[in-house]
Amino acid sequence: MEYIIYTDGACSGNPGPGGWAAVVLHDDREREIWGREEETTNQRMELRAAVEGLRLVPAGSRVKLYSDSAYLVNCFKQGWIERWQKNGWRTSGKEPVANRDLWLELLEVSAGLDVEWIKVKGHSDNRGNNRADQLAREAIEASPGGNDKGNSTGADQVKGSPPEDNDAGRQGELFSDAVPNVNRGLRRMGLLTGGGDCPGLNAVIRAVVKGATYNYNTEVVGFDNGFRGLVENEARIMDDLSVSGILNRGGTILGTSNRDNPFDYRPGGGDYRETGVDRSPDAVRNLEEWDIECLVVIGGDGSLLLAHRFSELGVPIIGIPKTIDNDLPATDVTFGFDSAVTTATEAIDKIHTTAESHHRVMVVEVMGRHAGWIALQAGMAGGGDIILIPELPFDYPHLGEKIEERRSKGKKFSIIVVAEGAYPAGEEPVYQTSGGVKRLGGIGASVSEEVEKMTGMESRATVLGHLQRGGSPTSYDRVLATRFGVKAVELFQAEDYNNMVCLKGSSILHVPLKDAVSGTKRVDPDSDQVRAALAVGTSFGCPMKRFIV
Ligand code: F6P
Repeated sequence: MEYIIYTDGACSGNPGPGGWAAVVLHDDREREIWGREEETTNQRMELRAAVEGLRLVPAGSRVKLYSDSAYLVNCFKQGWIERWQKNGWRTSGKEPVANRDLWLELLEVSAGLDVEWIKVKGHSDNRGNNRADQLAREAIEASPGGNDKGNSTGADQVKGSPPEDNDAGRQGELFSDAVPNVNRGLRRMGLLTGGGDCPGLNAVIRAVVKGATYNYNTEVVGFDNGFRGLVENEARIMDDLSVSGILNRGGTILGTSNRDNPFDYRPGGGDYRETGVDRSPDAVRNLEEWDIECLVVIGGDGSLLLAHRFSELGVPIIGIPKTIDNDLPATDVTFGFDSAVTTATEAIDKIHTTAESHHRVMVVEVMGRHAGWIALQAGMAGGGDIILIPELPFDYPHLGEKIEERRSKGKKFSIIVVAEGAYPAGEEPVYQTSGGVKRLGGIGASVSEEVEKMTGMESRATVLGHLQRGGSPTSYDRVLATRFGVKAVELFQAEDYNNMVCLKGSSILHVPLKDAVSGTKRVDPDSDQVRAALAVGTSFGCPMKRFIV
């Protein structure tokens, strides 16, 4: 015999002490059975609901247990319970497992059963209008005899009598993964900003919060400081007032971190001297406790990779691509890039003054990691004479020739724009180490030194560094960020999870998250951008065919 159980841990409306756990159980005769239990937290109620539901099923039965709790389902599906048992009921973070008594009960009651755990889409709203309530009400009303078999308003314990007429087809329809969002009421999404800060983050936060609250009856829970806030449960509900006046502000009002990995978590703000522990179960539990249906992660490749790992644990995710480096392959442009290029261009414009006045070779080192997008575009916009990018390893003799060529034409200065990831052919990129962490940086100084040696001209290096990540976003980034944020909310509304929003041509689309986290988008040396730069006499510090565009 196969049974279907639908559990919900907050169906009476109050997730706090004295709340309810509900079970809707269907066998081949379509009975609705409500189990009432009082528990102290959402998670305990959900667990209690599962325990009570399974108790109602005869030994040896096959059960499909549908739950809206990703945590509960994952605990079984991902083998966490076995791991806890092996670890003496401690999490991988060495903390005692919460609600051990109920987990033990659950193991005991499910022992003689063949239980398939299935996460249903969506969540209850904690206000007495949840899906278990709703489905049960519908089931009762639609069955012969209507709702005179009892009511299902949560506060009453109802044991519905079997309907005279069985309609087995309806059962699959109601309890399939494709359950429609019946009168779901208020929903919740989580939001965090991860990785390095970047102009436009606040514009996205504003778009997500306003888009969700104004249009879709959805609350946004903002986690502080990237994934750290998710692990530590530092979060708050964001209303539209909390995002007022932030459109043009740099940084992120939520705070961020590029050191906190929940799967390799170190205390004290990512202290690399400590040994990391897997705190992802805590992060998932926190999402459960907040009753969050989907986590929106605004981040670059590192944060989106973590988001992807959470999606593999069953957490519904929507990604929004952010980085000044513009190196994410699944989107034409990331927000923040245009602002960084604008800042770097302004800096190159200003550097021209000293270069011209002192007849110097001025080297400007820009960010971008292993992609040369910022260097290429700021170099082109700022009229850099030489642009050095990681995609085209340079050689010093070529570079020297270009400076001499300019000098012979009476141009007594040169501007070199160098990406932090650029390097001479046959050598390695230059790194600096601080606090035990290796970071790209320092190639500007090396280039400047070599240029002085080769040409005898005075040279200076300027590292733009975090200036490129700061300040107000450009109007382009504000618009892109707003479009990304709103698209993310639309995906949430459609429950189109585990995707990343992206820009393709002039359209905002979405791509599977798994495709968004593989590879790095780098400058194509054969692209029209590179050809255009060459055509106006810019050197890339290496032998290249000169193109006519
Ligand atoms: O990814 C953005 C970025 O600014 C890179 O361009 C740069 O290499 C890196 O972050 C710097 O990181 P941090 O702020 O940790 O020094």
